[in-house]
Amino acid sequence: MTQDELKQAVADAALAYLKPKLENDTVLGIGTGSTANCFIDALAAIKGQIGATVASSEASAERLKQHGIPVYDLNTVDGVDFYVDGADESNRSLQLIKGGGAALTREKIVTAVAREFICIADESKLVHTLGDFPLPVEVVPMARSYVARELVKLGGDPVYREGVVTDNGNVILDVHDFAIPQPLATEQKINNITGVVTNGLFALKPADVLLLGTAGGVQTLYAE
Ligand code: A5P
Repeated sequence: MTQDELKQAVADAALAYLKPKLENDTVLGIGTGSTANCFIDALAAIKGQIGATVASSEASAERLKQHGIPVYDLNTVDGVDFYVDGADESNRSLQLIKGGGAALTREKIVTAVAREFICIADESKLVHTLGDFPLPVEVVPMARSYVARELVKLGGDPVYREGVVTDNGNVILDVHDFAIPQPLATEQKINNITGVVTNGLFALKPADVLLLGTAGGVQTLYAE
């Protein structure tokens, strides 16, 4: 199977996982990226069976609206029942690196609110130790150089993602050459750097379930 076919398979699996749990007032959080896009397109077929969605990016909100799926401001809903999103990497504890699409802050906000986070990814995303994928860090623009120096002190090699402005008006530093054997501690350390808005480690609140697309079918993984 191609990577695109694996993404479609996990998107379909997420829909199948959710279907028995959906009620007409269910609020679904919708992630960002190519795998989340597959899920949005699949969701269109059952849009009458959900209450509303909240989106983790302007791009996903736009795609949902194009399908005629209602998108609400997070501040206007009481909660989010399920959040479905991809990842750039996951370890076996379902701690993630996210933010390859620069949507990490809104993704982390929706994750914080959601009752259950269902991560969907192809098998290339499952790793032993996080950090082969450069860790995205969203930064207030005036703090970019300062934050970069602090990230160097932590052992990483931050690279400014040229030409990218997030939905929140900020910039992204991608931290290369940065193995992350202790994701919880690293997430907290980077959060504590003044000027950092969000870092792409999802360890304090990892995924609850990972639907992993493999050549042998979709596997359902829970944190080890
Ligand atoms: C968006 O900012 C990211 O967190 C995505 O969830 C992540 O990059 C996965 O994207 P793909 O599904 O396109 O690989």
